[in-house]
Amino acid sequence: MTHEAGWAHAPGALRGPAWLREPADPNALVPSLWSGTATKTDGDLTVGGVALADLAAEFNTPAYVLDEEDFRARARAFRDAFADYDVYYAGKAFLCTTVAAWVADEGLSLDVCSSGELTVALRAGFDPARIGYHGNNKSYPDLRRAVTAGVGRIVVDSFVEIERLAQLTADLGTTASVMVRVTAGVEAHTHEYIATAHEDQKFGFSITSGDVLEAVRRVVAADGLELRGLHSHIGSQIFDSSGFEVAARRVLALHARVASELGVTMPEMDLGGGFGIAYTTQDDPSEPATLAAEMSEIVAHECRALGIERPRLSIEPGRAIVGPAMCTLYTVGTVKPVALDGGAVRTYVSVDGGMSDNIRTALYDADYSCTLASRASDAPPILTRVVGKHCEAGDIVVKDEFLPADVAPGDLLAVPGTGAYCRSMASNYNHALRPPVIAVRDGVARVVVRRETEDDLLATDMGAS
Ligand code: LLP
Repeated sequence: MTHEAGWAHAPGALRGPAWLREPADPNALVPSLWSGTATKTDGDLTVGGVALADLAAEFNTPAYVLDEEDFRARARAFRDAFADYDVYYAGKAFLCTTVAAWVADEGLSLDVCSSGELTVALRAGFDPARIGYHGNNKSYPDLRRAVTAGVGRIVVDSFVEIERLAQLTADLGTTASVMVRVTAGVEAHTHEYIATAHEDQKFGFSITSGDVLEAVRRVVAADGLELRGLHSHIGSQIFDSSGFEVAARRVLALHARVASELGVTMPEMDLGGGFGIAYTTQDDPSEPATLAAEMSEIVAHECRALGIERPRLSIEPGRAIVGPAMCTLYTVGTVKPVALDGGAVRTYVSVDGGMSDNIRTALYDADYSCTLASRASDAPPILTRVVGKHCEAGDIVVKDEFLPADVAPGDLLAVPGTGAYCRSMASNYNHALRPPVIAVRDGVARVVVRRETEDDLLATDMGAS
């Protein structure tokens, strides 16, 4: 029964989640959660050969720390494992000109989903022919810009967009390569807000409704549009390959139907991104080589069964490349033990950032982990909740983590796995200044996105008159 004062008063309410084990040594790193170059010696956390305590002293906190070697290694791992695919890095996970240049260096293509992301890619000198452009509501000016920039493929998402693009190519006397986004009717096992292939949501053309065949017909009928293939993305932070399998089967069946019913053989197919990463010890992601083997096996099997040739495949991983490559460094400001009913105490550790630099905990109920970054401690582990400095009770960074019991103001805390969708979804809530992104490699730290200043905050404020 609910306590008369509400859910938080239920006796014994303070329990860590079942998956969280009390560590023998709360100083120790769990290597699977950290970027490849992260090490901890005598309590000093080092990434890319840079001690994070030195980094904090030089650049202040909060700060996102980007492990260049790790990012490049993950990009290469996808490129090599999916050697006979085109691998598009999904820039929505995190994009700046430096990262776009690394993506180009490592031989990947790039997926953008807005005019802003396209601007960053073009500013970085990214070859437009290797850029794919997504979005469920691209305006005529958005499309004109993409087409005139020479973007390699545009993924169309609605009949309105097909009409717009047909008109645009006619107006400009040019052509555009197009993929048709389909929803495979798959309910991916992930948070509802980041699942994208079930029927009741905004993306793409539903396979089951028949709209998709009509979309293909209209693209084929438009003189300026060249149909490259179908595109399916089922969601994000997915571990269970059965969702990908069902989607691939349905999209390949549709691909075959387009050939037999409309006489159109499409050369390509995109199976999207969504590969999960480890935020905590409860996550067990697959290596790119395993994902590639599984996906290729499914596709080969289906193509044989359908009697069709395998189209050229592409994928769009974002999180799995940049997610583990970054951590966020914070300074502890306050530590507050809060007595709960039943005698339990929850220790709230407030850091100098929060939901403005990582909204994922509040938005998706995401789990994270963290560790002390600047010293070792002999104190026993206690269960803590790491919170930010914003004016909301839901401003939680790490819901549950064991930290040494002597965690104190001035300590540095690092949260791994913050590369994907943290800086890219950061806000100025409470007029917070968005933190910098500092790339580290071989002992050198380089600011690739600077910290915002109060002048940045006021730059769009027209002033009181
Ligand atoms: N391709 C398409 C068409 C997408 O919509 C997405 C992600 C990706 C590729 C890359 O997915 P990834 O490999 O990164 O999972 N803000 C949410 C995630 C939203 C994903 C949106 N689309 C989060 O923080 O979990």
